[in-house]
Amino acid sequence: MRRLLVAGNWKMHGDVTMTTELVEGVAAKVVSMSEGKDLSYEVLVCPPSIYLSKAVDVAGRALSEIKVGAQNVSEHSHGAYTGEISLPMLSEIGCGYVLLGHSERRQYYGETNESVAKKFAACTAFGDVVPVLCVGESLAEREAGLTEQVVENQIQAVLDLVGIEGFGKKYLQNTKNAVIAYEPVWAIGTGKTATPEQAQEVHAFIREMLASLDRGIADSTQILYGGSVKPSNALELFAQKDIDGGLIGGASLEIESFSEICKAAQKLAES
Ligand code: PGA
Repeated sequence: MRRLLVAGNWKMHGDVTMTTELVEGVAAKVVSMSEGKDLSYEVLVCPPSIYLSKAVDVAGRALSEIKVGAQNVSEHSHGAYTGEISLPMLSEIGCGYVLLGHSERRQYYGETNESVAKKFAACTAFGDVVPVLCVGESLAEREAGLTEQVVENQIQAVLDLVGIEGFGKKYLQNTKNAVIAYEPVWAIGTGKTATPEQAQEVHAFIREMLASLDRGIADSTQILYGGSVKPSNALELFAQKDIDGGLIGGASLEIESFSEICKAAQKLAES
């Protein structure tokens, strides 16, 4: 059974105080909602790189089940790459996940299917940091009927480098497959959410694409939905058969809204 994963992408928001308060606050809510039972879903926060250590420390003290992820990583392990951060560096400070190819990185920083695939391949070779591959179409692409093609190309570029085994590999001390996040670009930060049916359709397409290569890996890979997920729509989205949680931007910046989304995951996990 796939567990639900609720992941917060803070983007370029926050400061030291907020990092402490948000992680502590979410941990407190999550603990009280679970009423002493083990967490039935997973929680991940992805702050800006400079606050990763802080988030790891706070989560370690408050609730070790809250995992910490970066928003980007270099494909190289070390060297003369000014401004970059590597997988061994993330791993050393206890950061176990990394977002790859978020649409804002593709749009503003020139990341391509190929460069994202290289970063994914670096994660596969390194092994201890879970890649969260972000895919999704723009509004123009959706309107032109190209959604599946775009998503397929984004995933195929990764398959070309690492094969289906790259998704099925057990990352993070042999505990986790790679994760995919479907985020239609037109739904990110716009308040316009894909309907549960629209999202499910693409998620099913992605799962089938993986299943055509390996059914077991397809069935055990978490596919998150992202794009204006909020407390009011999380339950309905996460209830879809192939939606295994969310990658949450705006609503992950406040204790209340992020915890409410966690509550939706808990409700479904326990139902
Ligand atoms: P949003 O962002 O929830 O603010 O739409 C999602 C994301 O970009 O990951």
